[in-house]
Amino acid sequence: MTGNEAKFAELDRKNAEALLGGGEKRIESQHKKGKLTARERIDLLLDKGSFEEIGKFITHRCKDFGIGQEHYLGDGVITGYGTIDGRLVYVFSQDFTVFGGSLSEAYAEKICKIMDLAMKNGAPVIGLNDSGGARIQEGVVSLAGYADIFYRNVQSSGVIPQISAIMGPCAGGAVYSPAMTDFIMMVENTSYMFVTGPNVVKTVTHEEVTAEELGGATTHASKSGNTHFTSPNEAACILDIRKLLSFVPQNCEEDPPMLPYEAGDESRPTLDSIIPENANQPYDMREIIHELIDNGEDGFLEVHKDFAANIVVGFGRLGGRSVGIIGNQPAVLAGVLDINTSRKAARFVRFCNSFNIPLLVLVDVPGFLPGTNQEWNGIISNGAKLLYAFSEATVPRITVITRKAYGGAYDVMNSKHIGADLNYAWPSAEIAVMGAKGAAEIIFRREIQEAENPEAKLEEKVDEYTRKFATPYRASARGYIDEVIKPSETRQKLIRAFKSLENKAVAAPKKKHGNIPL
Ligand code: HXC
Repeated sequence: MTGNEAKFAELDRKNAEALLGGGEKRIESQHKKGKLTARERIDLLLDKGSFEEIGKFITHRCKDFGIGQEHYLGDGVITGYGTIDGRLVYVFSQDFTVFGGSLSEAYAEKICKIMDLAMKNGAPVIGLNDSGGARIQEGVVSLAGYADIFYRNVQSSGVIPQISAIMGPCAGGAVYSPAMTDFIMMVENTSYMFVTGPNVVKTVTHEEVTAEELGGATTHASKSGNTHFTSPNEAACILDIRKLLSFVPQNCEEDPPMLPYEAGDESRPTLDSIIPENANQPYDMREIIHELIDNGEDGFLEVHKDFAANIVVGFGRLGGRSVGIIGNQPAVLAGVLDINTSRKAARFVRFCNSFNIPLLVLVDVPGFLPGTNQEWNGIISNGAKLLYAFSEATVPRITVITRKAYGGAYDVMNSKHIGADLNYAWPSAEIAVMGAKGAAEIIFRREIQEAENPEAKLEEKVDEYTRKFATPYRASARGYIDEVIKPSETRQKLIRAFKSLENKAVAAPKKKHGNIPL
């Protein structure tokens, strides 16, 4: 063997060693839990053969608690870059087979290095999380490493998209890095997130709860809203990441990818019969969304599907153009706005605005949810989040009022007054301060009480109010609605309208940052 051959052989040996992570036994144990390895995940995520690894031979520097002699090349996290649909992304993938994927000083430096490269090169960062938390043997050095990552998460926020997939444990302070990224995805039954685990919970609050109940995918999808997406398995989760990125630009300076689109017959006659005759009867706003967007149901990527279901948010395309869609959902609690719907929609609006994704808002809202629960838990400050988010958004913004737009909720749901560019209403729209019955009972109270037949009088006054106010025509006479359109022609209008707004430029007032009511 020549000198060079020996050197190449050494490199080959080291490369092969790095590929094995914590060793075959631990890989087997990972598979037995129904989980992929960190490298298998990267292979699925990125375009075939596109991964370029950075820091493959990095090892930890800790000498304490007997791990001074135990080194694994890469030290528990695989980092690098590659492409998704040909577009550059940076990725880190935590390797549970090495010290339980726990975070050391060297490991944190690897993550920081690719976060810095992603910022310099304006590309998304995807983190695949599967870790036992801080490397216990390293103590405060590990905590410092976490904080270095947290700081970068915040500096990157709104500059490059950041996506976190949780594919195993994610506990303690470790949860805060994903929490500060734009989207969290969780895999059912094999992932969990919590600040303190079931044992600590039992000691402190005497509650008995499993890890899955406390912080599994279903819990965070439906109860806390921490996760935006859940998937039945890791492969499905990874496909969701790829799909999500297709709607999103590389960074805040760019527009989202535009797909080729051939104009055709854009009329959608089905829409003309979706709104029920009876204004109190529910319907599913998703049906309208599916009719409006390219590729129907398959073209819609719903975010926070199982959380605050009285509002629907997600991504779709109109004539090839990526749009963020926010729609009240009359099929759940009549589409009322409450604390969680406001938080959910506000965060979505702010994401879209950060990354130049135009907004389509579909309105059918009876108002804000009354009650002590809502008032005491902050419907005022939480409702204000949505109002704030819409008001500060400078991306193209279009509203379609399908049915009810009552009270403060009319203002909040992307009304003309808070900066929407184009506002449409269907003939079924009811734009007023409140529902006709409530309004008639208040303003005609004396007349109704003094009438010979109060019930008939009430009915007469409700009719009168409905004719005058429960229509789109008062608002359109004022110019608050730009056009009253038939449902079937809405898709065509929207495609043209978003195209007309593609060069929209708004100079926001100079400030450090606004003070959204958190
Ligand atoms: C060092 C760790 C580790 C850790 C696991 N391992 N967690 N090594 N530091 N934090 C090692 C184990 O010793 C074991 O090594 C291997 O990883 C696999 O762990 P197991 O326990 O065998 O796996 P499993 O039964 O699947 O349990 C996974 C687990 C458990 C639930 C994550 O390992 C666990 O509870 N770990 C400790 C979690 C924790 O308390 N972390 C610190 C939290 S505080 P071998 O050699 O046997 O394969 C924190 C603060 C962050 O993270 C603050 C940021 C601001």
